[in-house]
Amino acid sequence: MLYEPYQIKGFTLKNRVVMPPMCMYSANTLGFANDFHIVHYGTRAIGGVGLIIQEATATLPDGRISINDLGIWSDDHIAGLKKIVNVIHQNGAVAGIQINHAGRKAKVDRPIAPSAKSYSDDYQVPAEMTIEEIKEVILSFKEAARRADEAGYDLLEIHGAHGYLIFQFISPISNLRTDEYKDGKKFLREVVEAIMEVWPKEKVLALRVSGTEYVEGGVTPETISEAINSVKDLGIDIIDVSSGGNVLVKINAFPGYQLDLAKKIHDLTGLPVMGGGLITDMRLADHAVSSNRCDLVYLGRLLLRDPYVVINSAAEMGVNIPYPNQYIRGKKA
Ligand SMILES: Cc1cc2nc3c(=O)[nH]c(=O)nc-3n(C[C@H](O)[C@H](O)[C@H](O)COP(=O)(O)O)c2cc1C
Repeated sequence: MLYEPYQIKGFTLKNRVVMPPMCMYSANTLGFANDFHIVHYGTRAIGGVGLIIQEATATLPDGRISINDLGIWSDDHIAGLKKIVNVIHQNGAVAGIQINHAGRKAKVDRPIAPSAKSYSDDYQVPAEMTIEEIKEVILSFKEAARRADEAGYDLLEIHGAHGYLIFQFISPISNLRTDEYKDGKKFLREVVEAIMEVWPKEKVLALRVSGTEYVEGGVTPETISEAINSVKDLGIDIIDVSSGGNVLVKINAFPGYQLDLAKKIHDLTGLPVMGGGLITDMRLADHAVSSNRCDLVYLGRLLLRDPYVVINSAAEMGVNIPYPNQYIRGKKA
């Protein structure tokens, strides 16, 4: 089943494998893409991945996780991003991009967040966002979506996971506000509404969430599903399920450790889900989709070390898929 196509809106993924967003910290300090990004994403597309979601790309310079994040805060970024989209498309994959603002986890002079509470002792105490700053960030997500469309991406993923700004609003651990944004669903809704003013309805809108924080008082699959349900009518097509990132805590990770979360969030929202976590074996990936734990399965670190795992595992999984023409002579006998 892993190698069967998956249809989402007008897009056909040739299989159920997703390359999840993974920061490469390889842009220049102005956020521009370069040859590394083209080789990196192009290689995974040649390797047969169905959907590639480009790493967290910053909607504002002060929303960067590092000074070398990719950026999408200016129209000048579009040309470089277009090249990434082209190499993904030319090699047969569907192209996605994750857009992000890091909030209190941004490594900048003056990080902003829902409340003046730092992520850990190694991070600065952020400034509590004013209403004006909230509106500015919402606008930055809208502008980023417009640019992502112009660059040609098929799928836009809103980063609402891992303790970055949107998640900071949703989690009671990081949102201590007393005003109308005390309910983090309001911020999320305004971001999605702004995006939908410009993101074409024919294209795919994904939302990445952390389904648990692994600590008392944090979000749970139930509360995060409530947040999803409060915006899904706006046009969310699929949920990308991850976990953690808002509190420093040791996570007991094992192969497929987030698949139950994906299933639960699917059950509570009715939306298709991407699931994964520490999947290093294609049989487990296949099992994840064939046992209906998730609709699509992401392979992060596995694709970093083995970009050709999809095409090279097909034979042992008993499926016959086209091998890249240029590499036919290297195909395992
Ligand atoms: C180097 C690296 C960078 C990452 N950057 C991002 C990111 O930009 N956005 C995101 O949502 N998750 C990010 N993640 C998390 C991955 O998308 C994925 O959820 C995680 O690695 C678990 O999957 P895996 O066990 O298959 O690697 C990153 C992970 C790695 C290893």
